[in-house]
Amino acid sequence: MLKQVAPEFTTNWFEMSKPRWEALIPQAQPSRILEIGSYEGASACFVIEKLGNQKPIEIHCIDTWEGSIETREQDMPAVERRFDTNTAIVIEKATHEVKLTKHKGRSDRILARLLAEGYAGYFDLVYVDGSHQAPDVLCDAVLGFRLCRPRGIMIFDDYLWTDRSASEPDVLRTPKPAIDAFTNLYSKKLRFFPAMLYQVYLEKLSD
Ligand SMILES: C[S@@+](CC[C@H](N)C(=O)[O-])C[C@H]1O[C@@H](n2cnc3c(N)ncnc32)[C@H](O)[C@@H]1O
Repeated sequence: MLKQVAPEFTTNWFEMSKPRWEALIPQAQPSRILEIGSYEGASACFVIEKLGNQKPIEIHCIDTWEGSIETREQDMPAVERRFDTNTAIVIEKATHEVKLTKHKGRSDRILARLLAEGYAGYFDLVYVDGSHQAPDVLCDAVLGFRLCRPRGIMIFDDYLWTDRSASEPDVLRTPKPAIDAFTNLYSKKLRFFPAMLYQVYLEKLSD
């Protein structure tokens, strides 16, 4: 039995995205969700709380739980424990089955493994919020696209993020060039949703 009754988060990263997600998630009604970058589970808990009382859902959460080069948090095992507790709390409250699969490891390997296991075109929603390094984001975008079904949705967080901890600006340590490259190269297979620019919302049109 869980003693804690509500999820607890030590960051407010997800707060800025909430208004857009409040509108989009109930409308899009994803049943199979893939999240790259889960941290304490704020975005995963939001989706579970929104949809877990409406229908069965399946959510796959990928994270190293080692942080990123810009992460200030030192105690990542505590972050992972909070993810476990927070998601367990919201799953326990959901009236429908919530099947959560936790994938601990680097996203490139796990995404490639999911593809090899037959998950191509499986997910209704792919949320990319892991590493902020451009080469990593490009890899997450391309593999995430393969895992997303046609008419599914891809969301990229932190489009305009910059690393304030870096001694000098380095555009390759930000998601933007990767998201730009991906959306340019795949422009015939994507449709942009109108949105504020901090996150990028796309519909996959075809394989
Ligand atoms: C910004 S946080 C995710 C926030 C979460 N979506 C939320 O709403 O609270 C980014 C996460 O990505 C993870 N991460 C960084 N690089 C990664 C990689 N290459 N593969 C998997 N996870 C990674 C970090 O450990 C961190 O927990």
